[in-house]
Amino acid sequence: MSKLTHSPAWLALKKHKAAIGKQTMRSMFKADSQRFDKFSLQVESLLLDYSKNIYTAETQKLLTDLAHQAQLGDWIERMFNGARINSSENRAVLHTALRAPAGSSVLLDGRDVMPGIMRVKEQMRRYCEEVRNGTLRGHTGKAFTDVVNVGVGGSSLGPYMACEALHPYGSLKLNAHFVSNIDAEDITEKLEILNPETTLFLVSSKTFTTQETITNAHAARIWIIEKLGSDEAVAKHFAALSTNLEATSKFGIPPGHVFEFWDWVGGRYSIWSAIGLPIALHIGMDNFELMLAGAHAMDKHFRSAAFERNMPVILALIDIWYTNFFDACSHAILPYDHCLRRFPAYLQQLTMESNGKSVDRDRQPVDYATNRVIWGEAGTNGQHSFYQLIHQGTRTVTTDFLAPVTSHVPLGEHHAMLLANCFAQTEALMLGKTAEEARAELVTQGLSEAAIEALLPYKVFPGNRPSNTLLFDKLDPYTLGMLIALYEHKTYVQSVVWNINAFDQWGVEFGKQLASSLLPELNSAKPASNHDSSTNALINHCLSRISK
Ligand code: F6P
Repeated sequence: MSKLTHSPAWLALKKHKAAIGKQTMRSMFKADSQRFDKFSLQVESLLLDYSKNIYTAETQKLLTDLAHQAQLGDWIERMFNGARINSSENRAVLHTALRAPAGSSVLLDGRDVMPGIMRVKEQMRRYCEEVRNGTLRGHTGKAFTDVVNVGVGGSSLGPYMACEALHPYGSLKLNAHFVSNIDAEDITEKLEILNPETTLFLVSSKTFTTQETITNAHAARIWIIEKLGSDEAVAKHFAALSTNLEATSKFGIPPGHVFEFWDWVGGRYSIWSAIGLPIALHIGMDNFELMLAGAHAMDKHFRSAAFERNMPVILALIDIWYTNFFDACSHAILPYDHCLRRFPAYLQQLTMESNGKSVDRDRQPVDYATNRVIWGEAGTNGQHSFYQLIHQGTRTVTTDFLAPVTSHVPLGEHHAMLLANCFAQTEALMLGKTAEEARAELVTQGLSEAAIEALLPYKVFPGNRPSNTLLFDKLDPYTLGMLIALYEHKTYVQSVVWNINAFDQWGVEFGKQLASSLLPELNSAKPASNHDSSTNALINHCLSRISK
């Protein structure tokens, strides 16, 4: 049994859950007209409303005790100060240094990492300006019109999300595209519409060994050479974002077009590094720097605010409250902002690759739940897809609603309708609808008693379904930086309380390992026989169908 589930703070929360479990949010709001004021927090332009939770001052105190018991304050400082907290890989975790302002100093093993960070940022700025102003051109002398980022996971999800999120700030003359899947459909559908003379490829890979990325990069290389008639074109049409300078050079990318980052930047925390080059190319380096500044503002808040007034800590502890004491099944990210439609996908890797673990830092199996499934969809689309389950399903799905106060697109009533739907959903989830209320509605609609009896059970909403709401003035680069850093730190806080390492990802290795041994069997004339009957049959079914 783990120390955690037998610790004083954990046992106190278990007791509290038993006591509070029957209370409803409806009654909490009725009993206290100041509830919002007590359970909301603003950091610069970011407002967090966490009052629509099954949560009292006592809950907040006991959860905060859990954070103190986990020595969260020490762990926060360890991360910012370059301790090797990624223990299984013996690495520091310093994505926060990437967004520290000029003049900062961050020591890793006694050496300041800031000069290297500043050098690469300067190289990114120069490259962005030259590509965007047409100084840097392709093999046939034409300016670039399209940038294709070839990468996967943390080398794609962040930049892809950010380019869509900051679309209003994007260049109209330089389009961003993202290729990640090994499925040839992904790269082919891009190359079919692109002009090789004006296409720039960014090969984004921390290791420069990821099968999907390297395979796609070679396909792009062949395309450029075939279309432009010379392998000399590679040097002009490719850049690399990587820690593996030897591999980038072997691929044929000149050193000046290689943008370095370091092993103390985790893939899913790398958007702030050279991996952010596609963003900087799309929105300009000044806007990319604003994104960094927003993240740094959240860093300062995270490092300095008392846990009771600390946005990442509050979100993390509320998540733990439902994960470990309510057995909530999943957590949905519901951005009421079309520009944030890829934010749920980005947060899936950030949170589930960080905390989807079952062995703790002491190498013991955990006896408590860790990260739940994270999913989501932009509102109001989700309302026509899965909200039935969120409102009337048998399992509790906790939710984060995110919305801008003002839209980039002032069109008629659209934004007011979007916000009305956002707020209505969180109100409905909290309130629910009793049988009496549903009956009264049906009576008003003039239904017969028999019709009411037949329909009534389906019109009742249990309510008491928790939600957090994050509002921000407008989705600009600075705000996006704040939001991403908020969720990074939320993820880290949960890992500290759960005593797990958020920064390794051994769980992705096994599948890759089996895939590489299975690949030759799919190209073989001989039927597969080395696996279980299912895997053998699947391989052989394909072999038999292909040969037809
Ligand atoms: O999903 C496994 C993983 O290692 C991620 O952590 C990483 O973001 C992704 O693959 C891509 O890795 P690389 O940037 O080294 O190609």
